[in-house]
Amino acid sequence: MKKSDIEFLNSLRQASGYVHLHRGKTCVIYLPGDLFLDNQALQEFAEDVSHLHAFGIKIVLVMGATPQIDIALAKAGVHWQQQQQFRITSSEMLPVLQRTLGEVRSQLEAAFSRQQPLSGHPLTLCSGNWVIAQPKGVINGIDFQYTGQTRKINEQAIRAILDSGQVVLLTPLAYSLTGEVFNLNTLEQACSVANKLQADKLMVFTTASQMQDLPRQVSLSDLKTFQARNTDQQQLIELLTEQTRQVKRIHLMNESDPSSLIIELFSRDGIGSLVFTDRYHQIRPAQIEDVSGIIDLITPLEQKGMLVKRSRERLELEIQNFSVMERDGHIIGCAALYPFEDQAVELACLAVDTHYQGQSLGEQLLAQLELQAKQQGFNRLFLLTTHTHHWFIEHGFVPSPLDALPSSRQSLYNYQRQSKVLIKELT
Ligand SMILES: CC(C)(COP(=O)(O)OP(=O)(O)OC[C@H]1O[C@@H](n2cnc3c(N)ncnc32)[C@H](O)[C@@H]1OP(=O)(O)O)[C@@H](O)C(=O)NCCC(=O)NCCS
Repeated sequence: MKKSDIEFLNSLRQASGYVHLHRGKTCVIYLPGDLFLDNQALQEFAEDVSHLHAFGIKIVLVMGATPQIDIALAKAGVHWQQQQQFRITSSEMLPVLQRTLGEVRSQLEAAFSRQQPLSGHPLTLCSGNWVIAQPKGVINGIDFQYTGQTRKINEQAIRAILDSGQVVLLTPLAYSLTGEVFNLNTLEQACSVANKLQADKLMVFTTASQMQDLPRQVSLSDLKTFQARNTDQQQLIELLTEQTRQVKRIHLMNESDPSSLIIELFSRDGIGSLVFTDRYHQIRPAQIEDVSGIIDLITPLEQKGMLVKRSRERLELEIQNFSVMERDGHIIGCAALYPFEDQAVELACLAVDTHYQGQSLGEQLLAQLELQAKQQGFNRLFLLTTHTHHWFIEHGFVPSPLDALPSSRQSLYNYQRQSKVLIKELT
């Protein structure tokens, strides 16, 4: 088999797990107007969204049109002011906005109508007056006029469209209960809609400066304390941390690469920055179905002599001793506890997938197992290691003689391995 075929197979195998994981999930995608400037990029984006839809993902598109509106206003000779990330919208700007957004929407609908060679009908985009706006008001003496903000969202109507197999399309225009037209900040609208729908994912195409130095993965609470590198990034962080608490995961991707949507959702490590509001990985008791994942994780470490070899049968028999760390259905860490006499318990087989080492996951696993041991009434945690004693010493373990072990464990000591003994009192 050719190398490229093997790579294709591996990618397909990796992606297929995510197809299953994302099926039925709600995904809000913020689409900046810059993406519409390049027809090729727009076409590719439409195809990618169609793939997501075919995989059973429910999609809400929130489209912006900043550069198009800038051009249209300049052509019409209408001057306007900007206040932070908000355009102050006067009444004379509204017809220009309505016209321009109509054109951009039509461009998007055309892109969605062109492709899908394999399916009978093009994917249907559906838009409506589901977002109720109110004026942003007068802030610090500045009247924002027809610049609005979200007041209410007709969540049921949006869900009905999603459940009918269509893609929801929202533009920056929304209407007040008094029947007036308002211009909303698109990203702000995307955040409120995602929050209201308690979306599984909010996918945001950002600029390079908004992405600057952002960690690959960060919790929403850590993002709040992240030292922003520039004003654009500061505004993005404020918006996300204030308005997306109900969203499970936010994916930030560079707008210069529209195809990052697929890579971000269907590869293990993604391409952009992931902000998670839920626990990105969980530590839980292992089940019999986890045996294969544990074997995949520990086999390379056994081959290097770092861990004692365990057969599948032994793992199956001892599975109740194990805890696993799981991310997106993959076992990326494991550890086991084996009880002995004198309220002592052995920590064994602590391992973190090499792709994920150095992110304190080993520390988190250890802390969780220490807690478990304490809760089960043990007051001494011990382990035997050939390669990792320094790491454990740094985590509070003390090198100890063999005869400090419970006597039944001493009799099992393998003199060929010459493992070092380390003990931690669980106070
Ligand atoms: C030990 C292990 C679980 C740590 O996992 P981890 O998620 O990388 O741990 P953390 O992120 O909390 O810690 C990383 C730090 O430990 C250091 N470290 C990793 N292995 C080490 C070792 N054998 N000796 C000393 N330090 C080690 C790293 O250099 C890193 O240091 P830094 O923060 O100064 O850069 C992981 O390296 C592993 O799976 N090792 C192989 C299996 C093993 O030896 N298990 C113990 C037998 S019971």
